[in-house]
Amino acid sequence: MKKILLMLMLVIPMVIGCKSETKNTLKKYGISDVKTCDNLDAIIASGDQVVKDKGAVYCAIDTKNNLKSATAFINAGYDAKRISEFLKLPYFDESKVERYIDFDDKKKSVEDIVTYVNIGLDKPVYGDVDVIENTDDILMLVNKYHRLSDNYVPNNLVKTPNACVIGKDYSCQTETQYLHKEAADAFEKLVEAGKKEGINIKAIASYRSVEYQQNLYNYYYHENGQEYADKYYARPGQSEHNTALAIDITINDEPFNEIENSQYYDWVLENMPKYGFILRYPKDKVTITGYQYESWHFRYVGIDAAKKITQSGLTLDEYIARREK
Ligand code: DAL
Ligand code: ZN
Repeated sequence: MKKILLMLMLVIPMVIGCKSETKNTLKKYGISDVKTCDNLDAIIASGDQVVKDKGAVYCAIDTKNNLKSATAFINAGYDAKRISEFLKLPYFDESKVERYIDFDDKKKSVEDIVTYVNIGLDKPVYGDVDVIENTDDILMLVNKYHRLSDNYVPNNLVKTPNACVIGKDYSCQTETQYLHKEAADAFEKLVEAGKKEGINIKAIASYRSVEYQQNLYNYYYHENGQEYADKYYARPGQSEHNTALAIDITINDEPFNEIENSQYYDWVLENMPKYGFILRYPKDKVTITGYQYESWHFRYVGIDAAKKITQSGLTLDEYIARREK
């Protein structure tokens, strides 16, 4: 009996002490209604990270794994609703939280802010270009922020089916055309399907060596200046043509840069994804892709991704930026 009394004498003040300490902490954070606070444990555990008097905001959002991000948003004056919109995105990247905040003009949707920053659009193009490591990935993203290593050569090239004839066909690539085997097989099937509809889908450019791309870029750079060259041509190592997964086409031998006017163009757009190809540089996505509209440039990404990308209306850049972090 004595022992029990002794224990109670020790434990009761500890519990009371703890409770009043918690109460004080909560008061400091501005939390009055403990019952309606969703993340009480996380908030208390985080201690000094929590912004004074902003407990109510923390309580109203899911901060469990994102307390650092929540704090950054709260410091920047965000309310709970908008913070929650950010944190719930599967492609929200905690390491980029300050960039999201800087890029947020309160006009764009939260989805777009996170997507665009994940792409790198908040930074200057060509500034911080990383070298693609996994070149076996059929979905590899090559753009103004990601490049292939110097002298990259794909290792699974086969001749492009239904390629134009050099010196005969308009705007035909002056190197023999090759494609990644998987893309070539898919293109062959597309060509067969087109022929059944009376549509001759011909390749005018497919794989380009980095050197060929360099010459192409340099030519337009000297002819029309850097701004023009960068709008229409990728710098060497930064062209999808260097991957052997891209193809420029004509329809029934019409000039390649007018095929969008062809009566068959809708068929091409509708059927490309069934064979794993997407239109890579759409008219309404110039600010995202960094290139002018190219009705002729298609990229092989595989059937599943091609269907998803086309249905979603996203570019490959956006699609990759929205993959779960
Ligand atoms: N015209 C496209 C952007 C290229 O040069 O790859
Ligand atoms: Zn192209």
